Amino acid sequence: MEGNLQDGPDVEALMHTEEVFEPSDDFKAQANFSDPSVYERAEADPQAWWESWAHKLDWAKPWNTVLDWDAPWAKWFVGGELNVSHNCLDRHVLAGRGEKVAYHWIGEDGDTRTITYAGLLATTERFANVLKGLGVKPGDTVGIYLPMVPEAPAAMLACARIGAVHNVVFGGFSAEAVRERMATSHAQVLITADATLRRGEPLPMKASLDDALDTLPDMRHVVVVDRTGGKADTPMTEGRDVWWHEQMEAAEPSCPAEPFDSEHPLFVLYTSGSTAKPKGIQHTSGGYLTGVTATYSAVFDIKPETDVYWCAADIGWVTGHSYIVYGALANGATSVLYEGAPDYPHKGRFWEIIQNYGVTILYTAPTAIRTFIKWGREIPAGYDLSSLRLLGSVGEPINPRAWLWYREVIGGGHCPIVDTWWQTETGQIMITPLPGITATKPGSATRPFPGVSAAVVTHNGEIVEEGGGFLTLRRPWPGMARTIYMDPDRFQETYWTRFGPEVYDVGDAARIDEDGYFWVLGRTDDVINVSGHRLSTMEVESALVSHKGVAEAAVIGQSDEQTGQAITAFVTLESSVEQSDELLAELREHVAEKIGKLARPKRIIWSDELPKTRSGKIMRRLLRDIAEGRELGDVTTLRDPAVVGMIAERIQAGDED
Ligand code: PRX
Repeated sequence: MEGNLQDGPDVEALMHTEEVFEPSDDFKAQANFSDPSVYERAEADPQAWWESWAHKLDWAKPWNTVLDWDAPWAKWFVGGELNVSHNCLDRHVLAGRGEKVAYHWIGEDGDTRTITYAGLLATTERFANVLKGLGVKPGDTVGIYLPMVPEAPAAMLACARIGAVHNVVFGGFSAEAVRERMATSHAQVLITADATLRRGEPLPMKASLDDALDTLPDMRHVVVVDRTGGKADTPMTEGRDVWWHEQMEAAEPSCPAEPFDSEHPLFVLYTSGSTAKPKGIQHTSGGYLTGVTATYSAVFDIKPETDVYWCAADIGWVTGHSYIVYGALANGATSVLYEGAPDYPHKGRFWEIIQNYGVTILYTAPTAIRTFIKWGREIPAGYDLSSLRLLGSVGEPINPRAWLWYREVIGGGHCPIVDTWWQTETGQIMITPLPGITATKPGSATRPFPGVSAAVVTHNGEIVEEGGGFLTLRRPWPGMARTIYMDPDRFQETYWTRFGPEVYDVGDAARIDEDGYFWVLGRTDDVINVSGHRLSTMEVESALVSHKGVAEAAVIGQSDEQTGQAITAFVTLESSVEQSDELLAELREHVAEKIGKLARPKRIIWSDELPKTRSGKIMRRLLRDIAEGRELGDVTTLRDPAVVGMIAERIQAGDED
């Protein structure tokens, strides 16, 4: 680790520490969970443990069986009926907490809105009626492609209210990515905005989608939120496109929540796997809501009356679904919902928000923390962060240096850190400290949540007591994905085959230490994690080869100090095409158009040929070794070992971008 004077001597000294951080007596004294016996209790009867959380929700009809498990097919709270939006909204309003703030919304342009539980319920009910009026029925898919505006959670909850299945696409994805996700989920209605704001300027959303929308035969209606007050040019197709505010004005205010089966689908969320085709991860109602309610309360130690919680993720990722919307609202918490970037209009934006709103809990990603480290500790030092009492991390491994900086500089040395490991597929946090119980080690997500069973195994599936291997989950949990949308075979094959039919194959490498602590190291499949965003190498490759000048492409994730991993692409051009800097820029743009800016390769390296096995498989591992300047292992299985030398020379000669 290179020194960085900005960090100051205290962090430098700690950087090499093996120190274990015990929860303080003060924190323990007020914690939701401070007795370690909760682990044994949950382990002795996991179903009873989860059931105790399900009892905290309102059910229109009680379940008769906690779990029906025919691996890999799980049903939780079988026979039970509930409405998810009722549990997130009406329940609190009926209990007299309608005036409590659900979201302090802060727009990119400094605009603010205070949204109470009663207010969010009113918007949700009206919008549920709008959806009904547009012909949406229980089980139909509704797409959502929005900036971080209050309409986003309202739209999700309105779907839940009427039993429609939402399919949210992160606003940073391209029109082509939206098209694909809408087509494969047969969405009939899409909710979007006229534009999103980027550094104060409107960036059109709806207009950018129009060509893609025209190719979607199932798409009957597009509802457009006017985010910019008419500043964006927004063509509306008669009969298909409608304005959110006009529809809302015309809609009936009341839409009673109907109960749905516990296993009724709640949402699909697409995520990248090992192929070019993203997977629609399917979650259902009762188990998911139970899982996120439990983990939100226990991991973030939430005191709904006094805490101001801020999850800085986007609603378009699973973190936003589970811990900005469902987990937070089910617990009746008050959250900050921030639309903008951390450096607009200035680099102290996050700390200013924490100071102004008295944020007590901050949940963000290591990549953001590393960016803050780069900007320097004097920026947060200019604000009063003393309201903070707990810090969370999610999305990628957090390096000990970032962990320690987060604790010292942001948490003032007194806030526990919860490094939470989980995935789109798990729906809920799975490996994490409980802040009033668990002693933490910088860089380790520590132990499975009570009731969760995890193990590191060898490639033969044997459990490793201490050492490295593949991370597995070995017992069903309520928030688990139920299937891949319309592709149960792929679900079974991807997750439930490699280590046996009852063992969930996570796809991550991990180490377990002498104390049974888990250290998640990164992906073992062809998935790249750029700034906590999952992308598949094949998705990027297929975007590159769809450019007419490209004959072949191989994409790898390369270690990157800032973003965790960065995308490096090796590209072979058609013989008639010349290598040029213009073409490099064009290829990057092409990938941005196909997938989104987040997938733009950081480096593109021209290679006349790619290293392949005799059967024609591209050897990505070898490319990774070359790119990171490591010793090359055995290359005798290569069809043409000379290729490796050629590429290495290219890199050394700086013939790259
Ligand atoms: O590799 C792990 C990494 O992110 C993957 C899941 O990505 P996604 O489905 O997009 O969900 C991200 C937010 C939950 C995992 O397979 N990952 C997530 N959290 C951690 C992590 N790696 C290490 N430590 C974490 N805390």
